[in-house]
Amino acid sequence: MAINDLGFFKGFTRMCEDGWLQGWHERNGGNLTYRLTDDEVASARPFFGEPRPWVKMGVTGENLGGSFFLTTGSGKFFRNVCPDPEHSIGIVEINEAGDSYRIMWGLEGDARPTSEFESHYMNHCVAAARTNGADRVIYHAHTPGVIEMSFIVPLTDRDFTRRLWQMMTECVVVFPAGVGVVPWMVPGGPAIANASSELMKTYDTIVWAHHGLFAAGPDFDTTFGLAHTVEKAAQLYVAARAANGGSEDWLNKIEDAGLVQTCHDFNIQINEAFVD
Ligand code: 13P
Ligand code: ZN
Repeated sequence: MAINDLGFFKGFTRMCEDGWLQGWHERNGGNLTYRLTDDEVASARPFFGEPRPWVKMGVTGENLGGSFFLTTGSGKFFRNVCPDPEHSIGIVEINEAGDSYRIMWGLEGDARPTSEFESHYMNHCVAAARTNGADRVIYHAHTPGVIEMSFIVPLTDRDFTRRLWQMMTECVVVFPAGVGVVPWMVPGGPAIANASSELMKTYDTIVWAHHGLFAAGPDFDTTFGLAHTVEKAAQLYVAARAANGGSEDWLNKIEDAGLVQTCHDFNIQINEAFVD
C-alpha cells in the first residue's frame, strides 16, 4: 500500500490531470484543495513524516481548526502532479485555532502550499458551514471562456449569472444559485480570500475577473463538473456573441419563464433575484 493507492489521493490527482487536459492550467496556473475525512486522515497517517514548523496564515477560520487538507503546491504545475506527487502536492494540518498550517506529507524540496491557500481555507470554512460539512473540495482554474467573458460583460453577479444560465438548458440546474463575481484583484493572500469567501456564503461558483474560476463542492466529480459546466457556458457565450456580430440581440434564446419552469420541474430552488 502506498499513499497513491488511497481513494482520495487518486481522486485528487485525477482531477489535476483532468484540469490539465482541459487546458486550464498553463505553467503553475490554478490550485486544488481537499478536506480529508477522519477515516482518510487515519489511512494517510502511516505516510506522514516529521511535521514541519507551523506557518501562520493571514486569515482565521475557527470552524475547520484541526482539519487536514491535501493541497497543490505554490509554483507547481498541474501537469506534474501525477508523475511527481511528492514534489507537487502535500497534506497539511490546520491548528485548532484555525490560523496556521504545518506540512505533514509531500511538498518535498521546501515547497509550500498554493499561494491561494488562504483563499481556499477561508472558502472551505464558509462552504462547509453553508452545506453542514458536505463541501470538501475547492478548485481554482484559469478557464479561458470565463476570463474572456470578464472583458465584455459587466462585472456583477446578475450580469454573469443570467448570461451563463441562458447559454445551455441545464446550467440553471447545475448552479441554481448563480455565480458571484470578484472584480480584478491581486492574486494570493487575504484580500482576495476575504472577497471570495463573502460571496461563497451565497454561491458555490465565483468568477475572478481576468483570472479564472473558483468553485466548491462535496467531491471531485461534482466540483470538476461544476467548473466544466460554467466554463462551457462561458465559451458558448463568447462564441455565440462573436457569431452574432458582437451583438447580444439573439434571434432565439431561453426565456426567464423557461429557467423558472426548469427549476420547478427539477425541484430546485432558483435564485429569484436573477430572473425577471
Ligand atoms: P500557485 O502556483 O501559488 O498555486 O498560484 C497559481 C495561481 O493560479 C494563483 O492564482
Ligand atoms: Zn490563479
